[in-house]
Amino acid sequence: MATAARAASCTPAACAVLVIPILVLIMAGQVRVAEALSIGVNYGQIANNLPSPSRVSWLLRSLKISKVKLFDADPHVLRAFLGTGVEFVVGIGNEAVPAMASPAAAESWLQLHVVPHLRAGARITCITVGNEVFKGNDTALQASLLPALRSVHQALGALGLQGRVNVTTAHSLDIMGVSYPPSAGAFHPSAAPHLQPFLAFLSAARAPFLINCYPYFAYKDDPARVPLEYVLFQPNAGVVDPRTRLVYDNMLYAQVDAVYAAIQAMGHTDIDVKVSETGWPSRGDPDEAGATPENAGTYIGNLLRRIEMKQGTPLRPQAPIDVYVFALFNENLKPGPASERNYGLFYPDGTPVYNVGLRGYLPPMASHEAATQVIHWFLLIATASVVFALS
Ligand SMILES: *[C@@H]1O[C@H](CO)[C@@H](O)[C@H](O)[C@H]1NC(C)=O
Ligand SMILES: *[C@@H]1O[C@H](CO)[C@@H](O)[C@H](O)[C@H]1NC(C)=O
Repeated sequence: MATAARAASCTPAACAVLVIPILVLIMAGQVRVAEALSIGVNYGQIANNLPSPSRVSWLLRSLKISKVKLFDADPHVLRAFLGTGVEFVVGIGNEAVPAMASPAAAESWLQLHVVPHLRAGARITCITVGNEVFKGNDTALQASLLPALRSVHQALGALGLQGRVNVTTAHSLDIMGVSYPPSAGAFHPSAAPHLQPFLAFLSAARAPFLINCYPYFAYKDDPARVPLEYVLFQPNAGVVDPRTRLVYDNMLYAQVDAVYAAIQAMGHTDIDVKVSETGWPSRGDPDEAGATPENAGTYIGNLLRRIEMKQGTPLRPQAPIDVYVFALFNENLKPGPASERNYGLFYPDGTPVYNVGLRGYLPPMASHEAATQVIHWFLLIATASVVFALS
C-alpha cells in the first residue's frame, strides 16, 4: 500500500528513475514492432498472488508476446490489453458448456463476454467451448459439446462475427488411441463417435483443431525408455516413421502429426491442428521424473527457437506450427501433484523461473499509471519532433 501511494505521486527524480527504463523499452518496442514473437502463451489465473492484468500487459509487451490464451473471458484482462494489439483466445468453462446448447444462452454469453470488448477494440480471434471435455467420463458434458459449439457458431453469425472469431474446443492428447508411429495416428474408440461429427463441424466452420500436448507426461511415465533428448528437442538420431519414411527428431511434432493422421483417417484433410497447450514443469514431487528448471528451460528454449524459425512438422513442413506455451505464471492454487503448480515461465513477481532469453519487465505495483502519463507526454514530444523535422 505504502509503495503504491508513493509510486502514484512520485517526485520528479523518482519518476525519472521509474520511467526512463520504460521509455527505453517502449522505444525498442516501436522500432521492432514487426518482431513480435510467433509463440502464444496460456495466461492461467488459478492463484492468489498474481500481478494485476495491467502489469501483466506490460510484461507481455516487453516480451513481445502478442498471442494470449485465457481459460475464461476475464473482462479485467481484456480491458487491460486494449490498444496493445495482443490477440486473444477466450474460453467458455466446462461448467457453462451444457447451458450453451441453447442458442439464446450462447448469444447472451457473447453479448456479455465478447461483443463489448470487440466494440472497444479488443482482438478476440477464437473461443474455446470447454477444455479437455473427452478426457474424463462426464457423458452429459460430452453430449452437450457439439450442440454448444453449434449454438455459439450460430450466435456469432447472428451478431455478424462469423469469420472474425473462430469457435472450437481444446482436446487432451488422451483422445488418441494410437499416436505412434505418427502415420498410424487414430482416435481412441471411446472418443471417435464424438469426434466424427465434431470434425464435420470444424471443417464447415473452417475452425482449427486444438490439442494440448505434453511430451513431459510420456517422459515422466517411462523415463527409462523415453530418451530425454527426443522430448527436449536436443540433438538425437530421431525416429523414422516406417510408412512415410519421415524422420522425427522430437516427440511434440510426432504427436501433432499423429493427430493429423487421425483426422485424415476420418476423412478430413482441410483442418488445421494447433497446439493449445504445451509446457514442462520446473519442479515436481519426488515421483515426477524430469521436472527440473534445467529441463523446463531446455524444452521451452528449444521450442521457442523452432517456433521463431517458423518450422512446420515433417508432415506439413510448409505450415508453421502454432503453439501456446503453458503457462505464463506458476499458479499456486492448482490442485494435484507439485508439477501442476510449477509450469510457469515466470514467478508471480515477474522474475523468470529459468533462463531462455525471455527478459520481461513487470512494472512495480501501481507505477503503470504514472508511467502511462509520462508515455503520453513522450509520444506528444516524439510527434512534435517528427513534425518539426518534416517542416
Ligand atoms: C470413469 O468412470 C469409471 C467408472 O464409473 C471410474 O472408475 C473412473 O475413475 C472414471 N474416470 C474418470 C477419468 O473420471
Ligand atoms: C480461424 O481458423 C482458421 C483455421 O485454422 C484460420 O485459417 C483462420 O485464420 C482463423 N481465424 C481467425 C480470425 O483467427
